[in-house]
Amino acid sequence: MQKKIDKIFFKDKSIPVDLFLDKILYHKKLGYYQKKNPFGKKGDFVTAPNISNVFSEMIAIWFVSFWENLNRPNRINFIELGPGNGDFSLSLINTLKRFPNLSKATKIYLYERSEKLIGIQRKKINSRKVSWIKNFDRINDGPVIFFGNEFLDALPIKQFKKIKNNIYEKHVLIKNKKINFILKKASKVNIKKLRNYNLLDDDGIIEYPVFGFKELDKVCSKIRELNGGALFIDYGYYSKKNIDTLQSVFKHNFNDLSKNVGNSDVTSLVNFDLYKRYFIKNDLYVEKIITQSEFLQKMGILERYKILSDKMNNKKKINLHSRIQRLINPSMMGQTFKVIFTKDKKCKFSLAFR
Ligand SMILES: C[S@@+](CC[C@H](N)C(=O)[O-])C[C@H]1O[C@@H](n2cnc3c(N)ncnc32)[C@H](O)[C@@H]1O
Repeated sequence: MQKKIDKIFFKDKSIPVDLFLDKILYHKKLGYYQKKNPFGKKGDFVTAPNISNVFSEMIAIWFVSFWENLNRPNRINFIELGPGNGDFSLSLINTLKRFPNLSKATKIYLYERSEKLIGIQRKKINSRKVSWIKNFDRINDGPVIFFGNEFLDALPIKQFKKIKNNIYEKHVLIKNKKINFILKKASKVNIKKLRNYNLLDDDGIIEYPVFGFKELDKVCSKIRELNGGALFIDYGYYSKKNIDTLQSVFKHNFNDLSKNVGNSDVTSLVNFDLYKRYFIKNDLYVEKIITQSEFLQKMGILERYKILSDKMNNKKKINLHSRIQRLINPSMMGQTFKVIFTKDKKCKFSLAFR
């Protein structure tokens, strides 16, 4: 199988990093996300909704507050971007059952690129509230809430390097079945994009999500059209320095980028400062970026733990405690994972509402 994968991925001479990532992750037949279920112990990684249902409950409660703040519209759209194995959406549907008016008002849309994962989601989620979509055209009525957990890190990025005032784009060159990175002169169009975001002020590897911003252009215009906002949670950094963040994970361990191509997850850290500036340029308002730890605690994750654990035996209590710690402890996911909330300028709802 790996031979077949190599043959397909390695036939091009040299391609930009983002096209390479797009191929190895989303190639129709052999891309990582198109053929593998990467989640859980048997996969390559676990995400917050896989760690504990309580994470998803906190997002659901946040959604309840949003709806209330908008004066309880009788139609509201919740769009999950990149729903993975469907854990989050299933939990959202279950939590909303405790809020019948909101449940009745909510339409859930799952925006997923991988056909393999759509199959997994369809098996797990059996609800007439949920539709799978390839674009947002049919969402025309009621405010929109977009949510993406570990969605941004999965979008292919371009990489550039500035050497003595010349700007080069990193390409992947396959030679003797090995991955090599080479530099080629960057196009004027791309240089203009980098300049617009002041990314050329600093040296180092400059990362720019051309694909990501194209995806988010559609999200921003829906928010401006219908009111609402978008909440993203992801691992990343908040600094103006340019850094090389490409990383590969295979069976829960970091993996050499050139190994297990098409069978490992390759992602980049999210540059939150860049995304913030992107949303502002797109005429949206961006709230202060906070850590996952702060967000979940503001949402009451510890109080929820107390309620749940009071009814549990010791073994279950310890298990839940360690899962919650994994989500909020700064030395685990609490600090590295950050939360960005962007919204329509008219929208008064605030992220840190308590
Ligand atoms: C790292 S996984 C996160 C899954 C899930 N949100 C979670 O937290 O468990 C990234 C998800 O985004 C999806 N994805 C990546 N790029 C996408 C795109 N352009 N459009 C829709 N889905 C995409 C992947 O197929 C996958 O479901």
